[in-house]
Amino acid sequence: MNPNISFKRSLRLSQARFRFFVLQKSPPARNMSTEHKFVQAPHKLLVIPGPIEVTDEVLYANAHPSMSHMSPDFASVFGNCIRMTRNILYSKDAQPFLIAGSGTLGWDQVSANLLEPNENALVLNCGYFADSFADCLQTYGAKVDQLKAEVGGTVKESDIEVALKSKKYKLITVTHVDTSTAVLSNIKGVAEVVRKVSPDTLVVVDAVCSVASEEIQMDSWGIDVVVTASQKGLGTPPGLSILVASQKAIKVFENRSTPVRAYYASWKKWLPIMKAYEGNSAAYFATPPVNLIYAYHASLAQITQGSVSLEERFAAHKDASRRFKKAAEELGFKGVPLSENASANGMTALYYPDGLVASDIIPRLLKKDIVVAGGLHASIKDKYFRVGHMGVTVVDPKRGDIDNVINALTETLREAKATKV
Ligand SMILES: Cc1ncc(COP(=O)(O)O)c(C=O)c1O
Repeated sequence: MNPNISFKRSLRLSQARFRFFVLQKSPPARNMSTEHKFVQAPHKLLVIPGPIEVTDEVLYANAHPSMSHMSPDFASVFGNCIRMTRNILYSKDAQPFLIAGSGTLGWDQVSANLLEPNENALVLNCGYFADSFADCLQTYGAKVDQLKAEVGGTVKESDIEVALKSKKYKLITVTHVDTSTAVLSNIKGVAEVVRKVSPDTLVVVDAVCSVASEEIQMDSWGIDVVVTASQKGLGTPPGLSILVASQKAIKVFENRSTPVRAYYASWKKWLPIMKAYEGNSAAYFATPPVNLIYAYHASLAQITQGSVSLEERFAAHKDASRRFKKAAEELGFKGVPLSENASANGMTALYYPDGLVASDIIPRLLKKDIVVAGGLHASIKDKYFRVGHMGVTVVDPKRGDIDNVINALTETLREAKATKV
C-alpha cells in the first residue's frame, strides 16, 4: 500500500461521510471464533478481471449450513446486505436489487423496467460490454444510438452534449470500466453533461468492473442506476446480480404507461421483496441464492467495516494499478488505454511486445501459477491480454500478489524472448 496515503486523514474522511448513513454494525452470520479456522486450498493466483480471489472468510461464509430463505436470521443478513450495498455507493436512499443471476441480468432489468417500446437510449461505447448492453436494450424494443470511442479511448463530452441536444433520450448508458479495454470513463463528468443538457435522461452506469475498486458517489454525482455483480471488486463468488436504482429511476418505473415485458427481471416482482428484506422480514418471489448472500455479507462487512476504509480501498487500488502498470511499461508492454486518466485502477490491458503473441505469454504465466485473461475486444483480440488487480489482491499487501505477478511477468518475458533469438 502507498505509504504516502495519510491513513488517519482518510479514516477521518470516511468516518465523516459514513456518519450520515444508517450504518448498522453487522455481526458475523455465524461465530467463526468457536469453529475451526477455515483456510482455502492452495491454488493458482486468479488475476483475471473477475472473478477475483476471495478471502477465506468469504469462502467460509459461502459454506454456511443450509438456511431457509424465509427465516428471520437470513432476512436480517439480507437486509444488512441491502444497506451495505447502498453505503458502498455513498447513497442515502437508492434502491438495491440483489437477485440470483450474473451482471448481465442488470442489463435486462434496465431494459425491461426503465424503457418502454420505441423509447430512445444512448449508449456510450468503449468496447465489448457496451456492444452487449446495446444488444440487450434492442432486444426489449428500445431505439438505440451509440457514440463509439476509438479503441482505448473514451467518448468526448462535447459529442455527448451534441447527441443529447439532437434527440430526447430516456436513458444514457456508460460503462465505468470496460473490461475488454481497461478503459475508465469519467462517469461524474458524463452525469454533469446530462444534468446540464437533458436533466430528465436517466444516467445508467455499467459498473460491473468498477464497484468497490473505483469510487462511485451515486447521490452527489447524480447517477440513476448502477449495474454490478458479485465477482469483481465486491470480492464474492459469481452468481449475484446487484443493481442499485435512484428514487428518480424508481419513479420512472412506477410511472410507466405499458406493462413490464419481463417476468424474472421485473421490479414489480422484486421491489416488495427487497423492501421486506430491508425491513428484516422475509418475502418470496423466487428463491434467493442463500449461501451466496452469506458470502456477499461477509465481503461487504470486510469492505465497509473492515480495517481498511472505503477511501483507503480506492487508494490501494490506484496504488497497485500504478505500480503494476509502471513495471509492465518498464518491461516493454504498452497499455491499451490511450491516457492515464482513462485507465482503470482495478485492471490492466497490455499489448504484447513486438514479435510476441498470446501463446508466448499466457501459458508461461499459467505454469507459474498465475491466471490472466486473453484479449476480448474484437478489433485487437489477439494483440493483448488482461490482468485484474482488485479486492483482496490489492488491499492485503501481505499476500504479495502484485509482486508475484510482476515477477512472473518479468520471468515470462525473459523466457519468451529467449526462444525467439
Ligand atoms: C463491464 C461489464 N459489464 C457486464 C458484464 C457482464 O457480467 P456477467 O458476466 O456477470 O454477466 C461484465 C462481465 O465481465 C463486465 O465486465
